Amino acid sequence: MVVRAVAHGIFQDKVQELDITLPADPPNHPFADHNELLVIGAPVYAGRIPGLALRRLKNLRGSQTPVVAITVYGNRAYDDALLELCDHCKNQGFNVIGAGAFIGKHSFSSLDHPIAHDRPDEKDIRLAETFGGQIRHLLQTIESIDQLKNPQVPGRRPYKQEMKPSGAAGKTDPKLCLHCGQCILHCPAQTIHMSGGNPVTDPDNCIWCAACVQHCPTGARKITQPKINEIAERLHETCRTRREPEWFLAAE
Ligand SMILES: Cc1cc2nc3c(=O)[nH]c(=O)nc-3n(C[C@H](O)[C@H](O)[C@H](O)COP(=O)(O)O)c2cc1C
Repeated sequence: MVVRAVAHGIFQDKVQELDITLPADPPNHPFADHNELLVIGAPVYAGRIPGLALRRLKNLRGSQTPVVAITVYGNRAYDDALLELCDHCKNQGFNVIGAGAFIGKHSFSSLDHPIAHDRPDEKDIRLAETFGGQIRHLLQTIESIDQLKNPQVPGRRPYKQEMKPSGAAGKTDPKLCLHCGQCILHCPAQTIHMSGGNPVTDPDNCIWCAACVQHCPTGARKITQPKINEIAERLHETCRTRREPEWFLAAE
């Protein structure tokens, strides 16, 4: 939603969407054209860009193609993630002309323990479009993109240590399961398969993204382990103060 709103703010309706969340998406997509502009979005996991997202993003390559880098986080903090995404884009041959950190519903949010439960909301979307409008204005007023200095974004190198999810994974309540396979279809890490007609998760590869939980039509899918409940309870208590989107523009 946020990435779409930023893109809409820049281009109005001339937007082509490319969702690389799932492994079946286009394996290689080079953007060599200076006339193209990419808005790339990725989530924040433990203050970093998840390794799986970085591996998928490796399939996008630019040739000094301008890019706007966006991270979406669950109202705790984005730590080094925006810096990491900007660095990654540069390493892939893109020219970062804008970067933003926006807030989305936390993957561990529930009605019992809401964490940024209704984000992004109307205000977030309006601000995302405003940011896009500023990028459009920047492009209209400069003579050449090459004269721009990449934006300075918060974060440190070396980045925070990467978190390796372990000790929890999504599970299916067989009494509620319709065997529709939505959880399998939407798992970006391909950790779920049918066994004896029931969805089974490989706990070693689950990244805790909760996409399976969000897409389950009956609520059969949950990540119920105490470890995740404890994190959700803690975040619910400590991340109540509303954080606002931040963005950074390239300077002349
Ligand atoms: C394993 C994991 C770690 C997360 N770490 C953070 C974090 O460090 N800071 C934060 O504010 N939100 C964090 N979140 C919340 C996500 O950034 C947020 O829910 C985001 O909208 C997820 O996008 P997605 O649904 O596309 O994965 C985390 C979520 C998960 C699953």
